[in-house]
Amino acid sequence: MADRKSIIAPSVLAADFCEVGKAVDLVMKAGGDWIHLDVMDGCFVPPITFGAQMVTAIRERTKLTLDAHLMTENPGNQLDAFLKAGVDRFTFHVEAETHVHRLVEEIHKSGIKAGISIVPSTPVCVIEEILSVVDQVLVMTVNPGWGGQFLIPETLDKVRKLALLRREGAGDYLICIDGGFGKDTSAEVWAAGVDVAVMGSAFFGAVNPVEALQECRPS
Ligand code: DX5
Ligand code: ZN
Repeated sequence: MADRKSIIAPSVLAADFCEVGKAVDLVMKAGGDWIHLDVMDGCFVPPITFGAQMVTAIRERTKLTLDAHLMTENPGNQLDAFLKAGVDRFTFHVEAETHVHRLVEEIHKSGIKAGISIVPSTPVCVIEEILSVVDQVLVMTVNPGWGGQFLIPETLDKVRKLALLRREGAGDYLICIDGGFGKDTSAEVWAAGVDVAVMGSAFFGAVNPVEALQECRPS
């Protein structure tokens, strides 16, 4: 059973794309635990961000855990490239994949961790059959595609549900949230039972990102 953690994973989506190397250095300086990589293909969500080549560059810059969040159609098509690029965790959307169990098995056979993500309108019951095999569940607390949005409070009910299911033995997964995490929402997020919080604009948009991240640690 995964003991409770309070991992903060800054998302480079909110960084200056002309200075990604410096953004990675800043995450390390601030004591960020993971680096969250928001991969968007312009199909599953309207924006297009970056692919495996960017991840290769980031991998060469840091030893921090690289947590890839595939907001793409056919996420399995990207697995080999992101594996070669050096990601440690590969999370895809249940809404974008028919053969979820098969892809989770492929990710595990590749030797990295598998995550499943649900958009705000997707209930936890849709992923109940996969909870016993995934390493993390990424609850989208905003509609995916953009940083800087407000956390949708009702989505935290899914966190509470996932925490209850885990207590009942449904699986050994980390509970993650993504979107709208910052000093105004951090207390409620940790209290709901979150293990991993993605932090984009509240980190890279802060006057003092190092302080901003520390302020969001559980008290
Ligand atoms: C949105 C991304 C989130 C986003 C979080 O689709 O998945 O990771 O970058 O950004 P903030 O923390 O600014 O809401
Ligand atoms: Zn994300």
